[in-house]
Amino acid sequence: MGHPLLPALFASLLRAVAYVFLQVIPTRLAVPALPLLYIGYLASLSATTLATDEVKPVEKHKPLPPLPKSEDPNPLVAVLTGLKTRSRLPNITNVVINTALFLASIDLALNPLVYPENDVTFTRIGAVYPDAAKIVVRYPTTANETMNKVQILYKEALADGFAWKDGPVVSLSQENDWVNVTKLTGLWPNTEYEYIFASPDGIFLPYPPKPIHFQTFPDPRLGVGSHFKFLVSSCITPNFPYRGPHERSTITGFDLLAKSLAPKRLVQEPPVTEAPAPSPENLPEPTVCEPEGADCTVPPAPQPENEATVEPIPASEAEESWITPMLPKFMLFLGDFIYADVPIYFGDSDDAYTRLYRRVYASPSFRKVYEWLPMFHVYDDHEVINNWGGDGQDLAPYPKASRAFSLYNGAANYDSPSIGDHYFNFTYADVAFFVMDTRRWRSDLDKTEPVERTMLGERQIEAFSEWVAKVNNTASFKFIISSVPFTSLWGHDAQKDSWGGYADEKAQILAQLHTVPNVYILSGDRHEFAAIEFLGKDENSYPVTELSTSPLNMFYIPFVRTLNKDSGAEDSVVRTRTEVELLEEEGPVVRTVEERVPRERVVEYIAEGNVKWSAIEVDTRNKTRPVLRLETWIDGKVAYEQETVGTPVKGSTTALISLNMPFAIKNVLEKLGLQSKQWF
Ligand SMILES: *[C@@H]1O[C@H](CO)[C@@H](O)[C@H](O)[C@H]1NC(C)=O
Ligand SMILES: *[C@@H]1O[C@H](CO)[C@@H](O)[C@H](O)[C@H]1NC(C)=O
Ligand SMILES: *[C@@H]1O[C@H](CO)[C@@H](O)[C@H](O)[C@H]1NC(C)=O
Ligand SMILES: *[C@@H]1O[C@H](CO)[C@@H](O)[C@H](O)[C@H]1NC(C)=O
Ligand SMILES: *[C@@H]1O[C@H](CO)[C@@H](O)[C@H](O)[C@H]1NC(C)=O
Repeated sequence: MGHPLLPALFASLLRAVAYVFLQVIPTRLAVPALPLLYIGYLASLSATTLATDEVKPVEKHKPLPPLPKSEDPNPLVAVLTGLKTRSRLPNITNVVINTALFLASIDLALNPLVYPENDVTFTRIGAVYPDAAKIVVRYPTTANETMNKVQILYKEALADGFAWKDGPVVSLSQENDWVNVTKLTGLWPNTEYEYIFASPDGIFLPYPPKPIHFQTFPDPRLGVGSHFKFLVSSCITPNFPYRGPHERSTITGFDLLAKSLAPKRLVQEPPVTEAPAPSPENLPEPTVCEPEGADCTVPPAPQPENEATVEPIPASEAEESWITPMLPKFMLFLGDFIYADVPIYFGDSDDAYTRLYRRVYASPSFRKVYEWLPMFHVYDDHEVINNWGGDGQDLAPYPKASRAFSLYNGAANYDSPSIGDHYFNFTYADVAFFVMDTRRWRSDLDKTEPVERTMLGERQIEAFSEWVAKVNNTASFKFIISSVPFTSLWGHDAQKDSWGGYADEKAQILAQLHTVPNVYILSGDRHEFAAIEFLGKDENSYPVTELSTSPLNMFYIPFVRTLNKDSGAEDSVVRTRTEVELLEEEGPVVRTVEERVPRERVVEYIAEGNVKWSAIEVDTRNKTRPVLRLETWIDGKVAYEQETVGTPVKGSTTALISLNMPFAIKNVLEKLGLQSKQWF
């Protein structure tokens, strides 16, 4: 016979742990705890016999003794605490509640096992160039167990008179999980295209039901400056915080992101009261397409928008004013895309990794975004295993994890300057990007002396330095992408997992960057937002800014804050300041004062929020006044805005003369407002 309080103890612990697991942080620690607590609860419930249980039937018609009724707790208290009672209803209610919590936890933890998503069919745009674009295709088939071939058909969008042109044929094999990447080449810069799929013998395929649109990047050689926006975030887990089995594919972060880009009605004077909401989105609706399913509906992709103009739509509704947000040109996803080991690691097999990618691509929330927004990906530790550091050795589980990443996300990035590596660089008009791999090459902290430690490895450092020197005086803004924060201000395990553990290499890179104008580091990983400023050794150094934004859809830690506000006196630089003092006899006296200021400092910090992303707008149309605007969105609303005017960079205007003629003519015509289709 158990102690009568045991069921309440097990029930309360079970509920607390399940709450944390389902709503706060899906920690691995809960995985063994939850079944033990649940079994403990059931066992203690059946083992606990209350004093009057056996005698109850006998006493049924007799006057009640003073004890039993008064000892039974109030049913509400019993249900809240899990106490066992003599009456059955509170006990049944408790068993139902505790079982539901236990099943919900199992659903969250084992969902990828239960739903392998083998049939997910999708396409998306990866790397975009002025004259090409990479296209990812996943198209499983039942017609042939091992092979499928898909013909890409494409044409300029809005060019009604044009017929579909044959693009490349993509080979899809079961061996490669039916996914492959191809490159569409020979395109015009800054032009909108659309594509669909056909079988090699010319029959249109049911997916995509409407053409997928994309726009090539502008020709950087035109040197006219640019005005565009891009998005950055990281870290997603579907259905977290847990909202029930029916939401298993929902990624709220992507839903909110798609919504934030939908046209909005301007507030009228006087405000319009609760008119029936117009279809909120010009963006594709969620669709789940079976491979051969014919009833997929995807509304047309939003039209790429020209240079931030505000277009009133629709014209027919004269009373309504609409504002179309400036659509981003691409999104940088900074890793923790699959959480291979949270809350459960399903092992080092190809399928254990690929099924997690399929699960994310099967999400209707994500489909709303990837079917029209090019995405470039970095991996982080949870694409492999927690706090992964490869030491350049490619030991298990890296090869299988890296292969799955390449198939679904990596191969569609820009090619790395080193074959087989995951770091890369690219440009959008006059803006340059370097995307680091901070996992494959990082040295093991426990086995190396601080001075020998490397985060990037020799080859990557070389490519990075070469890139910095090249873009230094030619690109207006330079963005450096690191999955883990560059700042050392985050404490706890960030001290080892982020650049803080690689202080020497970090200092070398910073010394380089302080000689370069307009450098921004973009990072994720911490499940918090922070803007950090780094100062160089003297007044002539350019400052460097880091913007760390995450998660897009995952936990944030409540209450515990590990970000220090600055690097303190130990890590500081000298700055001079002029002071004016009014002396009675001599009048104003100007003095210069030397002071130590911290080398790293938090400019803004927002810890709370399960859904965060940053939208970065670059405007270099006026070369003497390059501007960067940051909008950080938390839970679907703008929570922080910042505008910075950068330093003019002379070389970011390239002469027109060096241009290859057809491109040049086409661009000039377009600048004059003439559409290419009228001319070519
Ligand atoms: C599947 O496709 C491969 C390659 O095209 C071919 O060799 C094989 O015969 C096909 N199998 C079937 C059952 O059609
Ligand atoms: C992708 O398709 C190309 C061209 O058909 C083929 O050579 C390549 O092996 C395929 N790659 C994968 C990963 O399936
Ligand atoms: C990457 O940077 C190198 C310079 O280090 C440059 O030559 C190359 O064109 C860049 N690649 C892309 C795709 O922009
Ligand atoms: C960047 O250019 C400036 C001015 O030309 C130069 O002083 C500096 O050393 C360059 N930095 C790098 C890393 O190339
Ligand atoms: C460009 O910016 C400079 C500096 O703020 C300003 O003086 C100039 O008028 C601007 N030029 C244009 C065309 O707006």
